[in-house]
Amino acid sequence: MQLERILQKHGFGTRKGCRSLIRQERVAVNGAICDDPFADVPTADLVFSVDGVDWAYCEFATVMLHKPAGYECSRKPQHHPGVLDLLPLPLRERGVQPIGRLDEDTTGLLLITDDGQLNHVLSSGKRKVPKVYLATTKHPLDQAQLDQLLGGVLLHDEPEPIAAVAAEAVGPNLLRLTLTEGKYHQVKRMVAATGNRVEALHREAVGGLALPADLQPGEWRWIVAVDLEKLVKTV
Ligand code: URA
Repeated sequence: MQLERILQKHGFGTRKGCRSLIRQERVAVNGAICDDPFADVPTADLVFSVDGVDWAYCEFATVMLHKPAGYECSRKPQHHPGVLDLLPLPLRERGVQPIGRLDEDTTGLLLITDDGQLNHVLSSGKRKVPKVYLATTKHPLDQAQLDQLLGGVLLHDEPEPIAAVAAEAVGPNLLRLTLTEGKYHQVKRMVAATGNRVEALHREAVGGLALPADLQPGEWRWIVAVDLEKLVKTV
């Protein structure tokens, strides 16, 4: 693929802008500066760099973000900064979008991609991809609440009760809840339906992919093939 096309595909601006970056000798291919925008570069295992920052060629860009509180997942954030602001510009320019949404005050694992098919598969309730949440509750948990969550609770605007795949008290006020749907405020509404209240919410895992312990709030990381396999693991 032509070098300027590779840069454009990876979010480095218009074709003209990419050509100019290359001519300014700011782009290296597999470690060597290349100033020919039209050089035909094999894309397999390609690592190129722009201004010294390495980028691996990827057909689609998929990353995981440790979402901090205080960020919105919506396309046009209104009251807080958007989660995409935490990513470098070339990634944003590729048009990546969050897979599903976490509330502004929810922390934890958020997947972001420009792969529309992956986004569809993971956000569709049909695939039953489990999402694991840790909810801090206002009142102590009891067995009756866990039974209700496991048996199914009726939420406003939903035709049928929705049941958690797993619900476990991991502390007096700490609930680990696994859900396969991604309905609006689902954890908060399900817990409220049992007479309790969520005071803090954190997502630990999606599919078989857990938030890495060393990924700090606000940090992001590329998702590699082995993570993708874990991701699509269903219940
Ligand atoms: N359920 C919620 O209530 N909020 C989230 O952010 C995610 C799931």
